[in-house]
Amino acid sequence: MKVTELLVPESVKEVLLRSGIGELYPPQEEAVQAGALEGRNIVLASPTASGKTLIAELCSLKHVLEKNGKVVYLSPLRALANEKYDEFKKYTGIRKDDGKRLSVGISTGDFDSGDSWLGRYDIIVTTNEKADSLLRHRVKWMDGVSLVVADEVHLLNDGDRGPTLEVVLARLMQVNPSIQVLALSATIHNVDEIADWLNAKHVVTEWRPVSLKEGVLLHEEIQYKDGGARKIEKRTRETTINLVLNTIRTGGQALVFTSTRKSSVSLAKKIASHTGKVLSKPAKRGLMREAEKIMSAGERTHISDSLAALVESGTAFHHAGLAGAHRRLIENLFRQRKIKALTATPTLAFGVNLPARTVIIHDYRRWEPGYGNYPIKVLEYKQMAGRAGRPKYDKVGESVLIAKVADEADYLMQNYILARTERIWSRLAVEKIIRGHVLATIASDFAHTETGVYEFFGKTFYAYQYDVKAIKSLIAKILKYLYDEEMLELFGIDIYATRFGKRVSELYIDPLSGVEIREALRFKPKRLTELSLLHLIAHTPDMGPVMRPYSQEIDDLAILMEERKDELFVELPDEWDERVSYEGFLGEVKTALVLESWIEETSEEKLLERFRVQPGDLYRIIENAKWLLHATHEIGRLLGNKEVLPLAAELEERVAKGIKRELMPIVKLQGVGRVRGRIMFNAGFQTVEAIKHAPLDDLTNLPLIGPRLAKKIKEQVGGFVKKETWKKLEKDDEWKQKSLADY
Ligand SMILES: Nc1ncnc2c1ncn2[C@@H]1O[C@H](COP(=O)(O)OP(=O)(O)OP(=O)(O)O)[C@@H](O)[C@H]1O
Ligand SMILES: [Mg+2]
Repeated sequence: MKVTELLVPESVKEVLLRSGIGELYPPQEEAVQAGALEGRNIVLASPTASGKTLIAELCSLKHVLEKNGKVVYLSPLRALANEKYDEFKKYTGIRKDDGKRLSVGISTGDFDSGDSWLGRYDIIVTTNEKADSLLRHRVKWMDGVSLVVADEVHLLNDGDRGPTLEVVLARLMQVNPSIQVLALSATIHNVDEIADWLNAKHVVTEWRPVSLKEGVLLHEEIQYKDGGARKIEKRTRETTINLVLNTIRTGGQALVFTSTRKSSVSLAKKIASHTGKVLSKPAKRGLMREAEKIMSAGERTHISDSLAALVESGTAFHHAGLAGAHRRLIENLFRQRKIKALTATPTLAFGVNLPARTVIIHDYRRWEPGYGNYPIKVLEYKQMAGRAGRPKYDKVGESVLIAKVADEADYLMQNYILARTERIWSRLAVEKIIRGHVLATIASDFAHTETGVYEFFGKTFYAYQYDVKAIKSLIAKILKYLYDEEMLELFGIDIYATRFGKRVSELYIDPLSGVEIREALRFKPKRLTELSLLHLIAHTPDMGPVMRPYSQEIDDLAILMEERKDELFVELPDEWDERVSYEGFLGEVKTALVLESWIEETSEEKLLERFRVQPGDLYRIIENAKWLLHATHEIGRLLGNKEVLPLAAELEERVAKGIKRELMPIVKLQGVGRVRGRIMFNAGFQTVEAIKHAPLDDLTNLPLIGPRLAKKIKEQVGGFVKKETWKKLEKDDEWKQKSLADY
């Protein structure tokens, strides 16, 4: 089917033709024939790279341009949300009937806000969690969403993200029964079940635009699925590296999946020692500039230094321990074909479009707590493999598993390459997960009786697969817990949320966290310090998996905890009676100490050295801490706890920036983060007033502050820059390189 024959507005066709899309791929055509553009619910299950996003784009445009509708695009991961947002932006030149341009928005963070401004956009790209929180706030515009796209819907099977996704879909269908649901999925075993649950038609195909050759590499030979084979020249003792070098030598790029961060780094180092030798001089010069960008994006640590050194050799690694800015730089360098080999943990396994002609699955086993080294799922293997051979970038793709012995090669061929993907199972019925959803069902007025709550959960995928009776007793137990903890109150058979219950639900915290914070705030530690609150939030389940103290740290932590126990809201567990919770507690104390050091302006490198906390993890802790400090502040407000309020508010700000109290006034300025703030403060510019009166030259003489930034700072404080001064400075070109970002 040609794009010109589609029943979509001409303006849409023009954009598509301009971006080189003239004809639909077969799976896209099938989806259109199944009624995707006529508002039917569809589950589109087709292989990686088969162009599922385009169907989502067409349906979205149809809704916005022809039905005056509104679209929510759900992505399970932030990185993927960013990519999809960029893809939708190509349509923003199109005008709607009312003459206004079509608009696309994105929101992935900050859970405690109704974000009514988001409602101004026609298409909203968001994560499952953000959508869930918007629904909890009963944001008005959510009721008007006419199309919801659920990307990577097979992640219903994921213990972390799946439950939220199914609750969001069930709620959207409840608030707007006529909503169109479009779910995009990898090819899975039980698509029919998902389709049936969503009252959708399913379209299943095996078609892929670029052929993907799947194989197993044993010693020097790849055996392919179709019986073919290929020899790889032996240049090193490591087969993975030989295949990477072979790929690069024949003009391709390689993406290597490893199971741990550590192995992604060590493997990248080994690869770089070879790739560095084959680069041309101009390529090397270009890469040196890129390496400098990495060093100047955010604070330097030995991780960013080693990343930069590898980039100079055309290789890099990518894992969740990297700061977000570094991850994005690496993704872009690989996209621009500047780096040739990239090692990655599963952070890049889903949905993304990258020019990887060869994907290598270096380890097919991963460490699972409680199970040891465990083989990954077929579904995950298929997703990783599917990053190879993307139509925008390559004409063929190849994905290769690495085997050490012949038996293993057979095993991999049978159990991954020739295997069917697993069934998807709902993961909803876990108390910790469902607790917040039960509360939200009542607090956000989705139901006000016990039967109403069961009815709602009766619409989830879980109930579809197992029957709602299977979770009834769990829900009943949770309702009792919420009632006992004064989050719910009863009026006859009607159930309502108390003020506390409603606030906990809106704050998007686990009810258990809400209770822990409330109970803690009822008492007062002997000494209320920063550590008191930092430890309290680290103690809540919402801080996420607790940091494990290293064995060398345990004694020091235990001593320190004993010394500072007067500051804690929570009582210490007994070391001998409760061994497990004692270690967990030490982990919480460690998290609190990391945060305390962060707001003492300890550098990221020092934190890495002292606590072994990598930047990516540090920023996740910071994100969570900001949110939980805000929650603590709000619960403190409800309880009328005047002492905690100012401390929580101040900490929220300091944790966000990583600063001592004295920097608070000046980091409010745009372009001034903790590093520049400290430089300015130490140079005597300690208040907004002082900055206002400072000559521009005094500011530009400071390290990391160029005239452009100095001018921006002056303008923010209401200072005045003379025309002549500015002209004189403008001539000097060098400073133009300096970034204006907060630093
Ligand atoms: N009809 C088409 N003609 C040419 N290129 C297309 C067409 N449809 C999609 N593409 C391109 O194919 C690439 C892959 O598409 P997309 O990311 O939607 O795949 P996907 O099916 O979602 O894969 P995954 O399961 O890995 O997420 C994109 O670069 C897209 O621009
Ligand atoms: Mg996709």
